[in-house]
Amino acid sequence: MCGIVGYIGNKKAQPILTSGLRRLEYRGYDSAGIVTLGDKQATLLRAKGKVAELVAFADGNATDDTIGIGHTRWATHGVPAENNAHPHQAGDIYLVHNGIIENYKELKATLTNHTFKSETDSEVLAALIDSFYTADATLESAVIQALQLVEGTYGIAVISTREPDQVIVARMGSPLIIGVGEGDLVIASDASALIGHTTNAIYLNDGEMAICTREGVTLEDLEAQPLTAKVEQIEADMSAIQKQGYDHFLLKEIMEQPTTLRSTLNGRVVPSEYRAQLGGLNMTNDELRDVDHVVIIGCGTAYYAGLLASYYLEQLVDGLTIDVEIASELRYRSFNLPKNSVALVVSQSGETADTLACLREIKRRGVRTLGVINAVGSTIAREVDGGVYVHAGPEISVASTKAFTSQVAAMTIFGLQLAQTKGTGAKELSEYINELAELPDEIEQVLGDVREEVKAVAEKYAHYEHGLFLGRDTLFPVALEGALKLKEISYIQAEGYAGGELKHGPLALIDDRFFEVMLLQDNWLFDKSISNLAEVNARGGHVLAITNSNKDIDAEEVIRIKTKLDLLAPLVLNVVQQLFAYYVAVARGNDVDQPRNLAKSVTVE
Ligand code: AGP
Repeated sequence: MCGIVGYIGNKKAQPILTSGLRRLEYRGYDSAGIVTLGDKQATLLRAKGKVAELVAFADGNATDDTIGIGHTRWATHGVPAENNAHPHQAGDIYLVHNGIIENYKELKATLTNHTFKSETDSEVLAALIDSFYTADATLESAVIQALQLVEGTYGIAVISTREPDQVIVARMGSPLIIGVGEGDLVIASDASALIGHTTNAIYLNDGEMAICTREGVTLEDLEAQPLTAKVEQIEADMSAIQKQGYDHFLLKEIMEQPTTLRSTLNGRVVPSEYRAQLGGLNMTNDELRDVDHVVIIGCGTAYYAGLLASYYLEQLVDGLTIDVEIASELRYRSFNLPKNSVALVVSQSGETADTLACLREIKRRGVRTLGVINAVGSTIAREVDGGVYVHAGPEISVASTKAFTSQVAAMTIFGLQLAQTKGTGAKELSEYINELAELPDEIEQVLGDVREEVKAVAEKYAHYEHGLFLGRDTLFPVALEGALKLKEISYIQAEGYAGGELKHGPLALIDDRFFEVMLLQDNWLFDKSISNLAEVNARGGHVLAITNSNKDIDAEEVIRIKTKLDLLAPLVLNVVQQLFAYYVAVARGNDVDQPRNLAKSVTVE
């Protein structure tokens, strides 16, 4: 899940490549590199670490070359190091690769003429292409022959000093997009690198390759059969990919949730008309009425969004059965799906490999798939039978926040639409519709009210190395999400647990090494949660309670939010958790937007 870029045109390639890599850095930041071609010679620049290291290096080695490729790495094969950085060279060719070559060891054993300088699977692909790049061969034919032998996933860009007027790109499993400008082309793993260059883009599908020259794009399949390139429009809001005065993208994305949520709800939730409806499902009311089972699929935060939404769908649609599945597990299970099922495929990036694989398997079984996606034009969005964009805008910080809130809202609207079509759950419907409409304002209010308080409390807990998040009912998925957020950016070992499960094991953990976040909602389970709190206090716990109740709570710290919401209050409490995790990570001096070992879009298994 690296980021690759390419450029061919009339402008200086180096600055375009490095600014593209900066935009894609959330896809991996272990090392970075670029290579440009001028007058039969290449200028290869690579550096371990962030793109900033590479930019400093490039400033001292500037060229006027107008063609080149680049890469920012998330290490899979070989440690973060300069020799494992891309581009990889083999003979006259240079290659950048995003994905995993699964049979690289077997291929490597056959490439005895190449001296390997890295531990990567990608260098094997470079050497393989070079092995077919004989004196009378074209780069295109060498790439095609090599890709016939490859097993695994790839998004690649390849150039050669022998044919310095073309960039060859190909895709199998990893995203690739070509921005079509005035006399130039910008190649990238996702649209964020094209913003400011062009809004015209060609999305490559699996099994497609393209020869990019200053004359244009020649699209073909992996047998060199011509294909028609479809140029689409991409959204290009530069401000969306800037921090806009915030210290970090994460804080910006937490604070902009009232706005992004309004975009999610816009035209879909109309309380005055008692209406909650999603366009784009491509389902008739009869087909909706026939739905008896929903399976929700996702990874990480997307999975937790599905888990929370499942509680709401259960409440909204009588008789509906729901499963929520971790995609990386489901894809290898011999699972059964009952008749009249639909699958909700949840993903912020729309590129997560395990989620995509589940989508393809479920489609293969003839079950309808509906996407709940943020990234416009992404692979999952293009392959589902129907679905919605949650319109949360580009999410740059690796830790997902605004997408979670918008995904739960979108799936709740789906539940409302299903219930209205089936004619069930009338009483709850209007409550949910009203609460959804009020949610952006409620979150705005709470962000204003408690931000400073959360900051102070977070600094008090930042020294701990272990945390336990506890919640009951709809607050259980929220506890899981809270623990994930904290883990991702603070590196504190944290676990989310159902409050009622405490006595069945985790209570043994309670000692001074741990702090506990207890989520308490002022509802029918309040007293049960208070009993859990008492159990933790009895063992010397250090409890931070986050609640919408004004009742007495015997905890070390209590953050109270004022909200008139009830059913959707867990989404507001979760925003407080997001702020807490952010300020803990800042207090620990971590790279909040690009936490170690992670990447924003997991396009490999
Ligand atoms: C969440 O903060 C993480 N970045 C990660 O768990 C993420 O939710 C997961 O990789 C799924 O990504 P997706 O929504 O883009 O499919």
